[in-house]
Amino acid sequence: MKKIAVLTSGGDAPGMNAAIRAVVRASIYFDMEIYGVKRGFEGLIHKDIFQLDASSVGDIIHKGGTFLKTARSVEFMSREGRLKAVEALKDIGIEGLIVIGGDGSFRGAEKLTEEGIKTIGIPATIDNDLAYTDYTIGFDTAVNTVIDAVTKIRDTSTSHEKTTIIEVMGRYCGDLALYAGVTGGAESIIVPEDPVSIETIINKLNQGKKRGKLHHILMLAEGAGSASKLQEELLASTGENARVTVLGFIQRGGDPTADDRLLASRMGVKAVELLKDGVSNHVIGVRKNKLFSKKIDEALKEDKVLDKELIRLAEILSV
Ligand code: F6P
Repeated sequence: MKKIAVLTSGGDAPGMNAAIRAVVRASIYFDMEIYGVKRGFEGLIHKDIFQLDASSVGDIIHKGGTFLKTARSVEFMSREGRLKAVEALKDIGIEGLIVIGGDGSFRGAEKLTEEGIKTIGIPATIDNDLAYTDYTIGFDTAVNTVIDAVTKIRDTSTSHEKTTIIEVMGRYCGDLALYAGVTGGAESIIVPEDPVSIETIINKLNQGKKRGKLHHILMLAEGAGSASKLQEELLASTGENARVTVLGFIQRGGDPTADDRLLASRMGVKAVELLKDGVSNHVIGVRKNKLFSKKIDEALKEDKVLDKELIRLAEILSV
């Protein structure tokens, strides 16, 4: 394979730039021409494709976001749209495409494989919602961003002896809330995979108050409900008007951590090596710190299981 391309798609995640950089540098190392596609599948349809060299990706390893930009493409959902994308690639002679994103982006890659383009997926999302891999690029940075916010919120929460509800992203997955809840010292962690009743939350609050706790942090995953609804329920049941902080896009930005940069660099090089070896329709994952690849369809069929050990840990530590 002589010409390949790379794109980022779906929600951005810190470390995407480090992954693009690794893809570009590895391609050049293996004597392949490498092209960047702007705005994910949307840019592919509109042939927004340009050649990259080693210096195009200089000074980006440490930056959040994605310099290729990203989008969620509606046109790509139709076969007509996808055929335009294939034509754009074939016009330039590009045979392989590396897609950096989450599950929706991998489904897109799979569709392109059906149309004769070789594809490899690199998992990048702050949600860590892909069952087949221990970690996705961007998750570690997002956890650190959330705990940084928790640390600040804790100061004022303690001063005012207030309960605070912090709503974090993650779509239907509770990993971000769970990891940030445990490492940020939250009193209650509420995730979609392990629902808790309002009574349990109130009991925990009362238990803390009895031993003189001045603040209470309730870490709520967006997939488990909205912070304002929980606030109303607490007010109705206890009379306490908890403060609400919805962290929002703060969680998607920021400089990637060393762990995310390393994972992105390893996966970026691996993606190029796989294409070079003729592998296609695969996604890269990491288990026990070892990289592997498997078929997109098989990977996406796996069911994500919440780490019950971490839930237990949170329970023990918030006694
Ligand atoms: O998948 C990443 C993510 O940030 C989710 O955590 C969140 O639910 C969603 O994207 C928000 O999507 P959008 O950027 O389209 O509002």
